Amino acid sequence: MSVRTGWYRNAVIYQIYPLSFMDSNNDGIGDIPGIISKLDYIKDLGATAIWFSPLYPSPWEDYGYDVADYRGIHPAFGTMEDFEQLVAECHARGLRVIMDAVFNHTSDKHEWFRAALADKDSKYRDYYIFREGRRDKEGELIPPTNWTSSFTGPAWERVPGTDEYYLHLFAPGQPDLNWENPEVRAEMADILRFWMDKGVDGFRFDVFNLFSKTYPLRDDKRPAAFQKGTNYYVDGPRMHEFLKELNENALSLYDSFTVGESYIPDEEHAHRYIMEESGELDMIFDFEHLTSDNLFGLKMIPKPFRLRQFKRGLLGPQIRYHGTGWNALVLENHDVARSVSRFGINTKKFRYEAATFLAMVTFLGWGTPFIYQGEEIGMTNTRFKNLEQMKDPVSRFVFDTMRKLRIPAKAAFAMLRAGARDNARTPMQWDSTVNAGFNTGAAPWQCVNPDYRKINVKRDLESEKSVYRFYQRLLALRMSDEVLLSGDTVEYYPDDRQIIAYSRTLGGRRYLIVGNFSGVRADFIMPGDFELDELSIKFTNLDRTDTEIEEIMQMKPYEALLLEEKRK
Ligand code: NOJ
Repeated sequence: MSVRTGWYRNAVIYQIYPLSFMDSNNDGIGDIPGIISKLDYIKDLGATAIWFSPLYPSPWEDYGYDVADYRGIHPAFGTMEDFEQLVAECHARGLRVIMDAVFNHTSDKHEWFRAALADKDSKYRDYYIFREGRRDKEGELIPPTNWTSSFTGPAWERVPGTDEYYLHLFAPGQPDLNWENPEVRAEMADILRFWMDKGVDGFRFDVFNLFSKTYPLRDDKRPAAFQKGTNYYVDGPRMHEFLKELNENALSLYDSFTVGESYIPDEEHAHRYIMEESGELDMIFDFEHLTSDNLFGLKMIPKPFRLRQFKRGLLGPQIRYHGTGWNALVLENHDVARSVSRFGINTKKFRYEAATFLAMVTFLGWGTPFIYQGEEIGMTNTRFKNLEQMKDPVSRFVFDTMRKLRIPAKAAFAMLRAGARDNARTPMQWDSTVNAGFNTGAAPWQCVNPDYRKINVKRDLESEKSVYRFYQRLLALRMSDEVLLSGDTVEYYPDDRQIIAYSRTLGGRRYLIVGNFSGVRADFIMPGDFELDELSIKFTNLDRTDTEIEEIMQMKPYEALLLEEKRK
């Protein structure tokens, strides 16, 4: 009999990026004691679980997504005892604990990789993907395939002093693991059990659908594709088998939960990953809606916001997966710009309206909400002054690539600033004291957003009309209503360029969620299958009364409504 209860279906998950959350010892870096001091805050928001971005020892070339020891805690964050206390304090408050499982690659400082480099005959050589280089027509040594890394540049790094290369789909300091090797897979299952034995309740799998590569490795022959090689490593041939095996050997033995971060997945595979009958993952993050204002998902290459794409990405999975698996609802994480500073939003004018609007249209959908630290107070993008202020190495890689493409420095920097991951990584804004209350004055590893005197937790808590208070009410409402928790989704007006509208239905009950996703007024025409006199306003972010429910409603900029149908 399964020990899994499916607790994640009624969960609200809060994501913490530990480096930037709360620095208790004033060394410029967030830490576990700092997190513990804020657990009540997270609980009061209405969250029921916390996902921690990597807490493991790491050289921080990619701030923890380069793991040097899967069974440890980074000393800057605290000790294993601190972590155990964190788990206990979370559980005492009814908060579940979710760890980040970064299993596609390790750090090049991991002992497996060090051993693999030190000795060609070591068994750890086969934990990674090493290949001989090739010779081009001129006899020059070139990488084994033409694949490019998602962080720009070749996906192969030459092993110094040899003709061999190793594969890294991300930074050179993040060598890919060889999932064909059963010992690697056994290690991963063991790591999952290690943390679950410590009381961890679930995992977020980093870029999971890259684990399985297509062999033999070969050149991507597609013309001028942005990223070469994806057709040989995204949703690879053994993906489903690998996930099932992790379940068999670890996940299914505990009351666990998994969300997989997918990398441009194919729709059919995406569905299979989360179908209950597959026994693979519980849900995936599919970020299509978050590419609605950038080109090909390249966060730093903006394009005008496309609402139709946003709606397809947000609502499509709800419609496709309902009844067969589960869905994740997400607007922000540590890899994307702040939501109130994108999607064509004039942040200065509409920050409160847009933050509350986005929360309503996203988190009233079907799936488990994921809220990223600071999103609940409407934190904004930072106006970085120069590249040195941006600590994410990817910002530097992308800037250099843009310069190589002869994009003028000023334009390149402006593009970078709008989409950079650094925007999500500025310290959490707790109050208006020095460094936004993140610590007591030491320079934070990543600069504080100067708007913290206006936008901070303390201010939001003191006011009834604040983004935080709105989130609190919205999450409480969601939690208390079966229709919102599990009803199905039907979309209206998918082609409309201002309006987003969908219904949620369960049994005989139905809601209509409507929003004006623009900075100007928009007309909403009541769909034919709703009767005006059966509708009342259950929740809204601006002011509107029941008498203002009309056949054609003029909606204010970023107004969102939850209409309840009362059948006579
Ligand atoms: C996705 C993570 O969210 C991101 O921060 C990281 O850089 C890549 N995966 C590589 O691990």
